[in-house]
Amino acid sequence: MKITTSFAPSASLATECLVVVVLDHGDKENPNPQVSPTDASLQAAAANLIAAKEVSGKANETTLLHAPAGVAAKRILFVGGGNASSFAGFELRRAAGSAARFLKSKGIRNFAFAAPTLDAGFAESAKASVEGIFVADFDPNVYQTDRKDQSLEDVAILAPAATESEVTRSVAEGVIIGESQNFTRDLVNEPSNRMTPTILAERARAMVHETPGLSIEIMGGDEIQAMKMGAFWSVSQGSAEPPALIVIRYSPEGADASVKLGLVGKAVTFDTGGISIKPADGMEKMKYDMAGGATMIGTMRAIARLKPKLSVMAVVCATENMPSGTAQKPGDVQIAMSGKSIEIINTDAEGRLVLADGLHYAKEQGCTHLVDAATLTGAVVVALGFVNGGVFSNDDTLANNFLAATQRAGEKFWRMPIDEEYRESIKSSIADIINSGGRWGGSVTAAMFLKEFVGDTPWAHLDIAGTAWMEETKPWIAAKSPTGLPLRSLVELVRGMAKQTAGLTTSRVSF
Ligand code: BES
Ligand code: MN
Ligand code: ZN
Repeated sequence: MKITTSFAPSASLATECLVVVVLDHGDKENPNPQVSPTDASLQAAAANLIAAKEVSGKANETTLLHAPAGVAAKRILFVGGGNASSFAGFELRRAAGSAARFLKSKGIRNFAFAAPTLDAGFAESAKASVEGIFVADFDPNVYQTDRKDQSLEDVAILAPAATESEVTRSVAEGVIIGESQNFTRDLVNEPSNRMTPTILAERARAMVHETPGLSIEIMGGDEIQAMKMGAFWSVSQGSAEPPALIVIRYSPEGADASVKLGLVGKAVTFDTGGISIKPADGMEKMKYDMAGGATMIGTMRAIARLKPKLSVMAVVCATENMPSGTAQKPGDVQIAMSGKSIEIINTDAEGRLVLADGLHYAKEQGCTHLVDAATLTGAVVVALGFVNGGVFSNDDTLANNFLAATQRAGEKFWRMPIDEEYRESIKSSIADIINSGGRWGGSVTAAMFLKEFVGDTPWAHLDIAGTAWMEETKPWIAAKSPTGLPLRSLVELVRGMAKQTAGLTTSRVSF
């Protein structure tokens, strides 16, 4: 897909389809839908439809018209953005995506999008629109032999002439972020026979080689054992596929030397549960158990291109979780890289095992701040459904910085507790801790387990089990596809931290 910008008045632009957002400026009792561009001919094209209540501004509702008078475009598509008072980047991304998917379904692959201005400014509108259109352009059906390429060709973002320089920049940023998000989604979409730990590492290497500013180190089973990563190794020991520890570094010139962010990702390329095997029903979805790691790889791609001044390092722990004669068994005791002993209660609680060593390794590598992302627990889906990801943190500043970043990125997370009282649930009678705190508060006890390995380092854990995959049909995103969450929030977090450290040379800065 090629994204361009146009600063011409929307009604005079020759395009296959001009997309216009309709917002409701009224309330439930007195709806007042209005098209956002002020061109008289567009207002006129909408007037009858609005009067007849055929166009309401309802979120993501689409209405297609042909060759309207006074408009140079062949067609107009009205797309609803919901109520004007609550319309922000989150809603705009979905409206732009809904328009794009509607047009794709009609075989219209070229269009111009007229975004309304957000409170955050027009540059933000343009960036959000681009990101929403990239999300919409992804289709998961890559192995269908009769697949028709429906991807978008040319999309123009329309903007007021006065905003040209900032919009040109923010559109370019949106393209980097959108492409990186879809890069992550491609990795997650692959089935596990085509996305082994080795293949994931090779895909990361290929990305790094075409991205100036990044370096990569890939370690295999022997190195994982030599480094005494007993928790990570215990998950991979049952598989015929070798594990991979993928480390990607970004150390820009001029970054504050006292801050280094570690992004640690769970990349279980297939989670059978191991000896504590999962039920057959739905097990095929466990190919997306590497989404956390794939997100970290895509995030590195984006930040190397956006060039924020902050040192960042990704640590991706890639392995399968398989039952076999060499697999670990319930009751086994493993010694993590940190020296902590772990009694394995359930071999299906494997994500926390690989992350334990990933987090410790990142800390040893000098990371001053840690963020991990993982499809860690079914329990977070029980708690938050498919709407919000869970964020768990030992540091209010980092947690708040992350939540602020989610707002800018149009992604949703909800902070969850990690009070000391929950520590009880992971006590072991033979070792330091057990790897499964049981059913109650399962996402919290999983976070408590990870907390054992971060010490005092500011850390945020993102449980994305419910949000990394979209099962349902939605107007703005393909069904049964990876979402690429929380790549955009991580990118925004990095950019925010880079801004806060700019000019500071001491380690007094805290996140
Ligand atoms: N990968 C799963 C978590 C998961 C569940 C991801 C649903 C996506 C959708 C994880 O490894 C797992 O199996 N967790 C167990 C932990 C339990 C054994 C303590 C779970 O949530 O059931
Ligand atoms: Mn599991
Ligand atoms: Zn898992």
